[in-house]
Formats: sequence, C-alpha cells, structure tokens
Amino acid sequence: MINSVEAAAKILLRSKYIIALTGSGISAESGIPTFRGKDGLWSKYKPEELATPYAFARNPKLVWEWYSWRMKLIKEAKPNPAHITLAKLQNMRIIKTLITQNIDDLHERAGSRDIIKLHGDIFTVRCINCIFTQKLTNPPIEIPPKCPRCGAYLRPDVVWFGESLSPEIINKAFIEAEKADAILVIGTSGVVMPAGLIPKVVKDNGGKVIEINIEETVITSYADLFLKSKAGEILPKIFEKIMEIRRSRHV
Ligand code: APR
Repeated sequence: MINSVEAAAKILLRSKYIIALTGSGISAESGIPTFRGKDGLWSKYKPEELATPYAFARNPKLVWEWYSWRMKLIKEAKPNPAHITLAKLQNMRIIKTLITQNIDDLHERAGSRDIIKLHGDIFTVRCINCIFTQKLTNPPIEIPPKCPRCGAYLRPDVVWFGESLSPEIINKAFIEAEKADAILVIGTSGVVMPAGLIPKVVKDNGGKVIEINIEETVITSYADLFLKSKAGEILPKIFEKIMEIRRSRHV
C-alpha cells in the first residue's frame, strides 16, 4: 500500500469535486474538547442537562453558564494547522465546499469561507420568542441574556439534541454530497445524523471517502482511505504532497 499521504494526495488531485466534512476532532489540537471518547464533554456533562430545549427551559442559567464557558474557551483558542490547511485547499478551489458540525469559529478564523455549519454557531444568539438574533463577540454579561426587543430569553443559535437542523442547510449539504466525487472526513465519530450520512452519500455515488481520525469510526468500514493521525499533523503533509506532485507535473 503506497504511503497513505501520497495516496490521499493522488485521490484529491484526480477528483473533480471534493468536499470536506469536519467534526470536533479538527478543533481538538486547538484545545477545544471533543464530545465523545475518554476526555470528551459528554464524559463529564450530561447532554440532556445542557444541550436540549428542555434543559434550557428547566435551567437557562446553567445552560448559559456552560455555553459561556465554551465561548471563552473558543475565543482563547487558535485555528490549528488542520483548519489553516483546509482554508488553503478551499481558497485554491481544490476543496469546493466545507461542511462542519462544529459551532466554533476556527474554520472562519483560519480563512475558510461559505462554510455550511450544520449545527449552528455558538457566537450567534436568538430570541426564544421573537425574530431577534445577534452575533456576539464575547459571552453575554447577563446570564441568561434577555431579548432587547421583547424581554424573553436569548439562546445560543445552535442545534440541540431533540431539535432538527434547518431544512435549507441540510438540503445544501446533501446537494454538495451528491455533487462530490471525493470527500475528506476529518475528526468526526460519524454517529450523529444527518451529518453522519454525508460521507455515505458520496460513497454510494461512487465517490472516494478519505477519513482522517486518531481512531477508527463507523465511517472507517467504508472509507477508501483511513489515515490514522491527528488532523493538524497529516493535513499539512497531504497539502505538501499535492504541491510536490503538481510541481513535478509542470516540469
Ligand atoms: N485529529 C483527528 N481526529 C481527532 C482528533 C485529532 N487531533 N482528536 C479527536 N479526534 C476524533 C475522535 O477520535 C472522534 O472520532 O474526532 C472525533 C470526535 O467525535 P465526537 O466527539 O463524537 O464529535 P463529533 O463527531 O463532531 O460530534 C458530532 O455530536 O454532540 C454532538 O452537536 C455535537 O456536532 C457534535 C456532534
């Protein structure tokens, strides 16, 4: 089996429409905890107490304390080489579309654009009662924050367990999956739907699935290439290999 960095680079170079799907693992090297696995958030906190509409109705202060903590963590974090490399591949149009499950802004801060954010954005808040919405730069001072328009509570504009994703965002993501002849799946356990179906759509259409993860997942069984590595370490190597092959072809 030729070196998997080289194999990945060759697949990407001969593909016409490459998309990427990322999960919390791509932000792990920036110091943002993932959800599952031994140090994951769900090993310390109960999602049903913090990430559901019922939890918010029951205890908006607790939910907001948790999201404020995560907002601070993300603000202090920096995009890592994985985010930066994806942004470079996107700006070179090698990657056509970036779809993320993450609610952090590290892809944006790395330079990625037109990101399909399946689960929302932690820095956007919306009123539970009226149409008010606002982009924050810092965690709210008042916890839980109140809508300046109607006085009801503001909530993070993210998708909680038990809630459905916005149909137009799902639609956009699956149209991209249908168009793709290759997908880079980075740092996701692939267990949350509908995001977990996206690589399968590419595969079922005859596209190539390249998975980057530090351990096997439910996606590995049908991936064409499984690169067992930290995203921040291997993505720059794949980028370098792509550039090297391109240069050698222009000799
Ligand atoms: N490089 C690559 N992969 C990594 C790294 C790393 N440095 N560190 C961890 N991983 C992998 C883990 O092995 C795991 O497979 O990232 C994956 C993270 O999986 P989860 O914690 O389940 O996160 P994710 O797949 O993004 O969860 C999906 O679940 O809780 C909800 O809404 C939340 O968007 C989230 C969704």
